[in-house]
Amino acid sequence: MSTGTQPGQTVVRIGSLALRSLVMLAPMAGVCDGPFKRVVRRFDTDSLLSTELVNGEAWLRGSHEMAARAVLHPDETPVALQLSGHDPDFLGRAAAKAEAEGADLVDLNLGCPAPHLVNSGNGAALLRDPAAVGPMFEAVRRAIKVPFTVKLRIGWDETLMTGMEIARIAQECGADAVWVHGRTKVQGYGGTADWEAVKAIKDALRIPVIGNGDILTPQDAVAKKAMSGVDAVAIGRGAMGNPWIFKRANHFMLTGELLPEPTLAERIETARLQCHYLIEELGERLGVPESRKHVAWYVRGLPETQPLRAAVNQAKTEAELNVALDAYLEAQPDLAVAADPALYGTLVDPKWMRYK
Ligand SMILES: Cc1cc2nc3c(=O)[nH]c(=O)nc-3n(C[C@H](O)[C@H](O)[C@H](O)COP(=O)(O)O)c2cc1C
Repeated sequence: MSTGTQPGQTVVRIGSLALRSLVMLAPMAGVCDGPFKRVVRRFDTDSLLSTELVNGEAWLRGSHEMAARAVLHPDETPVALQLSGHDPDFLGRAAAKAEAEGADLVDLNLGCPAPHLVNSGNGAALLRDPAAVGPMFEAVRRAIKVPFTVKLRIGWDETLMTGMEIARIAQECGADAVWVHGRTKVQGYGGTADWEAVKAIKDALRIPVIGNGDILTPQDAVAKKAMSGVDAVAIGRGAMGNPWIFKRANHFMLTGELLPEPTLAERIETARLQCHYLIEELGERLGVPESRKHVAWYVRGLPETQPLRAAVNQAKTEAELNVALDAYLEAQPDLAVAADPALYGTLVDPKWMRYK
């Protein structure tokens, strides 16, 4: 199935933002840092990127960690900056700061299930309190001219399915779109995303809906958009170690043509580049350990990766990381081998869930 639209044309509008891709990077704490967004951009100039979640209040109070998450490079555009929080005044001020620092869109998180975030009344905690969200949405809307979106789950649990109600409130308060992850808070990342519930929200709204949950391949993107009617899709776990997914999925959605998977050599070279960007930004002491999970994602599903993982886990310098990557590449006879796409996104290790 193809849309008849050629790559390079506007395919979806979120408020004043005209986008040339139907596929967006879902915000992911611990994943969507500057180096990752830079690598995604290398392979795709059109998709809307997202920052990691930024706690608005902590950012305004001077948190270095939040400031680092909120850094936007000019070549990342179009990029969404995602805020968490619950106090309308802080949220409005943080949204204005995000706009001033170059965000093309400000998104508000109503879906993060991490306990310390929920216990502070942020993220998915707001799914339990639809009566409270209007003033937050209005404060953000008033504070910025760039598009404003709300990212939510379909409910708290199966007895408290508030996603629809909150999506309607967002629309009434002037949000330009909602992102809907088809799980409840209680589901976390388990089970499968309920795209019927995503569809129900899409059918009820006038503003665009970005559907999200379990898109791992270009074929998934086409099928889930077709069944739900959403305006665009967002990919999270399927993008870990897989920056090619954005161009491949969008191209497939627009033209019906499946672009080839990267070769093993391209995977390894891209892993190497992302580690280099990380080390450039953080230095070797922090950048090398931070690189390990990314290398593991890049080689997920590839053959004989155990020695590579072991060597990467021992590495202390960029040179040692590169030796490990070179050794892996030399040991693989078939450079055209592709990872099994079914393995993307299947691993969600709780220790990656360090939301703040
Ligand atoms: C490691 C990790 C970190 C995440 N961090 C965020 C976040 O900061 N903000 C947010 O709205 N959602 C976050 N999410 C949820 C994703 O944006 C997305 O909604 C969810 O993973 C479902 O999409 P997927 O099946 O394509 O992964 C995170 C998910 C993962 C796996």
